[in-house]
Amino acid sequence: MKSQPKSLSNLFNIHIRKIYHSQGSVMIEIENLTKKFDSLTAVDTLSLHVNEGEVFGFLGPNGAGKTTTVRMLCCLISKTSGNARISGYEIGNKEDSLKIRKIIGLVPDNVGLSEHLSAYDNLDFYGKIYDLTNDQRKESIQRFLEMLGLWEKRNVSVGTFSKGMKQKLAIARALIHDPQVLFLDEPTSNLDPEAAKTVRDFILELKKQKKTIFLNTHNLDEAQRICDRIGILNTNLLTTGTPEDLELAVRSRRTVIELEQVTDEVLKSLQKLSLTNLTVESNKIMFDTSDLDKKIWTVVAAIVLAGGHVNIVNVVGSTLEDVYLKLVGENK
Ligand SMILES: Nc1ncnc2c1ncn2[C@@H]1O[C@H](COP(=O)(O)OP(=O)(O)O)[C@@H](O)[C@H]1O
Ligand SMILES: [Mg+2]
Repeated sequence: MKSQPKSLSNLFNIHIRKIYHSQGSVMIEIENLTKKFDSLTAVDTLSLHVNEGEVFGFLGPNGAGKTTTVRMLCCLISKTSGNARISGYEIGNKEDSLKIRKIIGLVPDNVGLSEHLSAYDNLDFYGKIYDLTNDQRKESIQRFLEMLGLWEKRNVSVGTFSKGMKQKLAIARALIHDPQVLFLDEPTSNLDPEAAKTVRDFILELKKQKKTIFLNTHNLDEAQRICDRIGILNTNLLTTGTPEDLELAVRSRRTVIELEQVTDEVLKSLQKLSLTNLTVESNKIMFDTSDLDKKIWTVVAAIVLAGGHVNIVNVVGSTLEDVYLKLVGENK
């Protein structure tokens, strides 16, 4: 049989897939992705990547464009411009979209289960959509329902389930075909703390299985606890980094040194060090710290040489919340 001539875009696509698979590291790559709804730009030139096996937290206030991004990546809505690839497959390309759908799972913001069906039948229905055999469905459904503590409730109709139980079932449904990438859109919002913890623990369990997880959230604490890296979105991407990177980046950390007494000699010697934003409050001196180790010990040495007695040295401030509020506040 004569082989079909390959279009340039086809060749390009194959080339990209090769790079991806040989590196085995980048699972989601987004370049200048933009979505406009008429005159409203919901997502503006977003560029980021997520590595295989990573839990990526996508943080942002309501209306930031998190759901819109996920819906584009899951091929549920079209992009306006830019590119995104999942495991090398291009969103917006018809053939690739079908492949993307097979390797991703989505827990949408509105859970959307069939309330009149039982937990088991909800999962069975999805298993059939993904062409799983009877045996595969039986095995997966039992495994997930047991893992999530819902096996005893398998024959109960979902309409009677609590929010937490429904959310867990929605996660099981998104995993029924064993996808490589899982998108979760605010999976713990509206859950009580205990149910939220079960969901978070389950996400960490999936991470152990090397699943790539893209987690939309506006819960900073959650992002900090379970994400390897975080992106902060407010239509534009404001920053990305590990939770620790982001905290350090705002450089709002203050070193607080508590002395027995802040004497004139101590103050004089500190003034020579040209510390940023040096302040004194009763027996405490405080200054901004960017180059943590070096500066603290230079300062402590200067205090001791000036005859001062140091009681406690502390570094305070700059939590992920500070970073978030600063960035989102500046970019309103
Ligand atoms: N289908 C749509 N039609 C028009 N505007 C939309 C649509 N979907 C989302 N938007 C708008 O796009 C912006 C981003 O929304 P969304 O992605 O839902 O944000 P988030 O999930 O971060 O809260 C909002 O201003 C929202 O009103
Ligand atoms: Mg949303």
